[in-house]
Amino acid sequence: MVVLRRFADPVLRASSAVSSEMVRLTCLYLLSATLWLLIGTAFGLIAALKLNWPDALAVPWLSFGRIRPVHTNTLFWGWSSMALVGLALYVVSRTSRTPLWRPQLSLIALGLWHLAVLLGLVTLAGGATRGPQEYREWIWPIAVLFGSGLVLNGINIFQTVAKRQINEIYISNWYILGAFVWTATLFTTGYVGFYQQGLGNTIIQGYYMHTGVGMWFTQLAIGVTYYTLPRQLNRPIYSYSLGVLGFWTNMLFYTVIGTHHFIFSPIPWWLQTTSIVFSVGMMVPVWSGTGNFLLTFRGAPRAVSRSYTLPFLLTGVIGYAAASTQGTLEAFKSANIYWHFTNFTVGHSHLAMYGFIAFIIWGGIYALVPRLTGREPPPVGVGVHFWLALVGVTIYVLSITLAGIWQGFSWVAEESFIRSVEAAEPMWLWRSIGGFLMAGSHVVFAINLWAMRPRAEVPQPTWAEGAA
Ligand code: HEM
Ligand code: HEM
Repeated sequence: MVVLRRFADPVLRASSAVSSEMVRLTCLYLLSATLWLLIGTAFGLIAALKLNWPDALAVPWLSFGRIRPVHTNTLFWGWSSMALVGLALYVVSRTSRTPLWRPQLSLIALGLWHLAVLLGLVTLAGGATRGPQEYREWIWPIAVLFGSGLVLNGINIFQTVAKRQINEIYISNWYILGAFVWTATLFTTGYVGFYQQGLGNTIIQGYYMHTGVGMWFTQLAIGVTYYTLPRQLNRPIYSYSLGVLGFWTNMLFYTVIGTHHFIFSPIPWWLQTTSIVFSVGMMVPVWSGTGNFLLTFRGAPRAVSRSYTLPFLLTGVIGYAAASTQGTLEAFKSANIYWHFTNFTVGHSHLAMYGFIAFIIWGGIYALVPRLTGREPPPVGVGVHFWLALVGVTIYVLSITLAGIWQGFSWVAEESFIRSVEAAEPMWLWRSIGGFLMAGSHVVFAINLWAMRPRAEVPQPTWAEGAA
């Protein structure tokens, strides 16, 4: 239990270079995200249990078809977005060596996002939905609320970078600024409906889904990692150029891969082939990013074993490489014929959204919050969080991946559908067991974050002090 031996820093103080307003704003975003993490996880657990006991909790608003989008939207827009943007606001301000342009704007944006996620939960549970359009099931007024918050935060971040006190734009900010530009475009493309007829709707759905995960969560998570990793290792990033290469190729390849969600569909064959070719091209940004991070870790095994932050970041980086490489393989026609429509994809999405995104968020939070508040989490609590989450997600992903493989082979062999259900059922139980461990880790994480909350008094800023 390596992580259990992590220790607190006896001389840790809250950084005097960060204003109390910034400390409160960052912590508010992170605490808000954690609230939605707990709620979204509860819905995920109920959804998982329902696959084994379909007759349990037989009320319409807890039916599988309603709680599934509640789970995904709460965790996408509530947990992952609020947490990553909370960290990004701080990173942008520190790396630009200037206070955040208008903290109030981000406060309003947070309020809009809370309202959107809450209304989204209530309407989806109540049955008001735009139908099977993943991650854009919210009815449009709710999307407008979320989109407005996105624009406010985007303006704030752009203005902060524009007013930076240093010449260059640090690599983290490229990724973060890019994420805001793309996601504003994405929301507009996804929600303006007049041109989305027939197959056009399906093509936009594919574009929306993967550009959402690739140009929002991935870009923000990589941006945050380019700041937290060198800070925690106390050494520069291995290569700035690899970071730039990753940024441009991410933009080039990610935005064209959406149709790989609909291989063998009636979408024109050339577009399906293009999406597969670009999915292979994705290996350039994925491996220039993960290679860069892993080479930054090189020769620092002691630092990893002595830190309670770095194991989260290392797991997140490995999760990014593993999920993305798996995604590229899944896009090939020869593999997709077995895996499409099966639980294999659910394994991929949890490996990515949890093994990559959530671990990077936790690494970022444990790295940055103690600097802001001068308070560390209990080391035992961090160890329990890490191992419960890691063991939980490993059980989840392995079991559901196996279920997907059995389903796929059974369907290709044209066995009766019920055979594939019987084959997958034990694995669904294992998924729930993994899910319980993950849920437990989230409760422990919430307690840890609470232990790091700001004191009533936070020192006032001295911008000359402290490196970015
Ligand atoms: C090289 C990078 C990646 C490639 C080529 C890739 C490929 C794929 C493919 C082919 C599917 C659809 C499978 C099917 O339905 O047949 C898929 C689904 C998915 N991927 Fe990826 N993936 C990549 C990285 C990621 C990352 C980094 C994330 C998250 C941050 C992610 C999140 C998801 C999600 C959530 C789904 C499920 C979408 C849905 O049907 O609801 N992927 N991916
Ligand atoms: C940060 C945590 C999590 C995130 C971001 C997340 C994300 C997602 C995503 C993207 C999907 C859609 C999968 C797809 O269609 O390919 C999904 C579905 C699902 N998730 Fe999660 N999830 C999280 C945690 C959990 C936990 C702890 C459980 C508990 C067991 C869980 C159970 C489920 C279930 C049952 C589904 C529906 C799968 C199906 O349609 O068969 N998730 N989740």
